[in-house]
Amino acid sequence: MAILVTGGLGYIGSHTVVELLNSGFEVVIVDDMSNSEKFILENIELVSGKKPVFYPFDLKRRELLSQLLDAHDIEGCINFAAFKAVGESQQKPIDYYENNLFSLINLLQEFKERNLSNFIFSSSCTVYGQADQMPIKETTPLKTPESSYGKTKQMGEEILMDFARAHERKVTLLRYFNPIGAHPSARLGELPIGVPNNLVPFVTQTAAGIREKLMVYGNDYPTPDGTAIRDYIYVVDLAKAHVAALQKLIQDSRPSVIDIYNLGTGTGSSVLEVVHAFESANSIKVPYEITERRAGDITAAYADASKAEAELNWKAQTSLETALQTTWQWQKYLESRG
Ligand code: UD1
Repeated sequence: MAILVTGGLGYIGSHTVVELLNSGFEVVIVDDMSNSEKFILENIELVSGKKPVFYPFDLKRRELLSQLLDAHDIEGCINFAAFKAVGESQQKPIDYYENNLFSLINLLQEFKERNLSNFIFSSSCTVYGQADQMPIKETTPLKTPESSYGKTKQMGEEILMDFARAHERKVTLLRYFNPIGAHPSARLGELPIGVPNNLVPFVTQTAAGIREKLMVYGNDYPTPDGTAIRDYIYVVDLAKAHVAALQKLIQDSRPSVIDIYNLGTGTGSSVLEVVHAFESANSIKVPYEITERRAGDITAAYADASKAEAELNWKAQTSLETALQTTWQWQKYLESRG
């Protein structure tokens, strides 16, 4: 039996594949390579000492998915494959709906027809919008996300809940806060295409001299230092949560399951705290300038992750500084590759 990991060569996907292999799972990866490179597959093998099966195709090609499922005994799926750039999703909403939802629906059609279960979905804290209360619990009311990217996550959750209810399947929705960092081997990490949108890749490229300076988007938020607060979760900790969630789901004897977990550290850090943590962790300066707020940004989001701790026996372990050291090592590795 194997686990199907879609988007398994992506940022969170590749780290999760390594943790699955380390835990003794067989892994079959599907990735269309739209946001990854072949060396990530080689490095997964290098880091784990194991070779996952890999299929390079787009999940919108249902006939290829069907052939894959004919060829392998699949025990469950972790679905990472999706477009994820918030700004781009506002320019190309239909592309986002097509890619993120058609691929999910093809997977669920095949799972329905083949009587497969144990489906884990990559969701996001973006489904909470600016929550009225901190920390955010799984029961915190959802708000319509501002971006089309966020809407694909909220719609994906709804589709999966219907799937679990109507077809008696087991589903887990994982709502990530802000994933950061790279593998401690420095052989896996995030590959930002073009100018990074997210804070930590931008800080890293600024420290490396690729960007002149970081723009800190607003220091007039109602927070202690005026900059916005997020919950930055180390990607390897996040990857381990997937293994714990999968093990629980497989063992769960209920016919129909809809489990939802927030995955964060439970601690909020401001933009300036992240910048200064990066500087002290890596003994390097990050030039920055305070600018206007970014449209659509919220003041604060951090998790109450106690449900994941109680039910998955999982807790974020890694400090912000350690996570930011791995990011810097990964940047140096990327530079050494040229
Ligand atoms: C963003 C998305 C969120 C998505 C997540 C994926 C938005 C509004 N939200 O979250 O839906 O799930 O990415 O990782 O885009 N910042 C700067 N300068 C920069 C970049 C960021 O000051 O150059 C600040 C932002 O204003 C924010 C914080 O850093 O306060 C984190 O930003 P980012 O890494 O983009 O994540 P989110 O906005 O939280």
